[in-house]
Amino acid sequence: MAFETLVVPAVPEAHSTPLLIVAVAQGSQPASLGALDKASGGALSRCYAAGDFAGKKDETALLYPEGPRPRVLLVGIGNADDRRNGVRRAAAIGAKRARTLGLPSAAIFVTPESLGNLSARDLGQLVAEGAAMGSWHFAELKQPPEEKKPPFEKLELLAGKDAEAVKQGLQAGAAIAAGHLFCRGLQVLPGNHLPPRKLAEAATELAKRHGHKLTVLDKAGIEKEGMGALLAVAQGSDEEPRFIALEYGEGNGAPVVLVGKGVSFDTGGISIKPAQGMEDMKYDMSGAAAVLGTFEMLGRLRPKLHVVGLVPSAENMPGANAIKPGDVVKSQLGKTIEIVNTDAEGRLLLADALSYARRYQPACVIDIATLTGAITIGLGHTAAGLMGTDAALIQALLAAGERAHERAWELPLWDEYKELNKSDIADVKNTGGRAAGSITAGWFLREFVDGFPWAHLDIAGTAYTDREDAAMVKGPTGMGVRLFSEFLLARV
Ligand code: BES
Ligand code: MN
Ligand code: ZN
Repeated sequence: MAFETLVVPAVPEAHSTPLLIVAVAQGSQPASLGALDKASGGALSRCYAAGDFAGKKDETALLYPEGPRPRVLLVGIGNADDRRNGVRRAAAIGAKRARTLGLPSAAIFVTPESLGNLSARDLGQLVAEGAAMGSWHFAELKQPPEEKKPPFEKLELLAGKDAEAVKQGLQAGAAIAAGHLFCRGLQVLPGNHLPPRKLAEAATELAKRHGHKLTVLDKAGIEKEGMGALLAVAQGSDEEPRFIALEYGEGNGAPVVLVGKGVSFDTGGISIKPAQGMEDMKYDMSGAAAVLGTFEMLGRLRPKLHVVGLVPSAENMPGANAIKPGDVVKSQLGKTIEIVNTDAEGRLLLADALSYARRYQPACVIDIATLTGAITIGLGHTAAGLMGTDAALIQALLAAGERAHERAWELPLWDEYKELNKSDIADVKNTGGRAAGSITAGWFLREFVDGFPWAHLDIAGTAYTDREDAAMVKGPTGMGVRLFSEFLLARV
């Protein structure tokens, strides 16, 4: 998707555009809009005076003043205790509106009152991120409509002051946005359009485009590596598994290793899932998509960092060759696993990816996965679950999630929970029962963490949404790319 945000050093009252988006904080009409109001024939003050708009969060008013700005969209950011997200969200709401109106371009002005103490750099980054978030939609599997709307392709950010700093932020934001869009573009694809083989092709295309180092293991290669847990998940499907390893910035110290769950479709296997809502299990590769999206960001921004991305990918199907409850398999690490529930497949393929990570002598390893339904019971669709072995790593991820507004919340990995995964027949079993389901899943992963700081993000509740939102369409959310970008760029 060709989408561009650029800085234009102009004041809103002197700029012509099909749509002027104005982000405003809650309260009366800000002084900074006096000139624009005048140049718009008083349309803004009439709107405020009528009580039709007060700048509340997500509130919008679309005005049609005369002159070179046929449309002005006021977007409220509320009291904005989180101004970063307020500005990002306003850009997203504006961009979404521009797209649905069928406008090829728009301009955005963020009033100084709503910017608060955010920097010029922040402004650029947040607007670039938000614009991409709001403009995304997916219609590639539909017949094109007879009257096609032009795509929304360009957002001008009106910023007179500190244009250089705004531009720098915009550059970072555009790279993060590209990663976010790449992620959502993969997430949305149905299981039959993106089996492991195709996911590997997408990673190959990405690696070629950016010159990332790439290894793709097919089934034979995975067998050679002794990844018995990944193979166990894949064996019920006619679709072969793949193991994808991407590397960026070799030589820049010990790498951060990102591991993404790439289950292209999760039927549950022999422990089959109920039919209701099963179609959403196409999103079970969202962790993988977040890792690949992060490599899109890295390829565009090229920061001085060393990052490895690992994606174990399989389709979880029932079938004549499928694993059965009670089966015992051997992981790459050497630990044996009793598979008591074939629907707890994500932790199996992640286990082998975690032990594969050892060869990089990582600075840290972070896995991201739509791992448990239980995380949605605990945290809803608002926060990812976060667990790990290293307090500093956890803190850095929490802070990154806050800045990115892809928030995470820590759950305890106390020893008491470890006991729940004890097997009578093998070293460990793949489910610890219903109680503390997200934590026992985390503990299972921890059994395969060998010699590096590690954290785990459970994004089962946040990777996709069935609610249409003012800022984003329903469907994939791109969860993880902004968080990883903030986390990584803070390490440069
Ligand atoms: N992919 C699912 C988790 C999931 C559930 C993601 C809902 C998104 C929405 C995972 O593979 C799974 O099936 N987990 C089981 C684990 C259980 C069998 C211990 C679950 O959460 O029910
Ligand atoms: Mn499952
Ligand atoms: Zn799954």
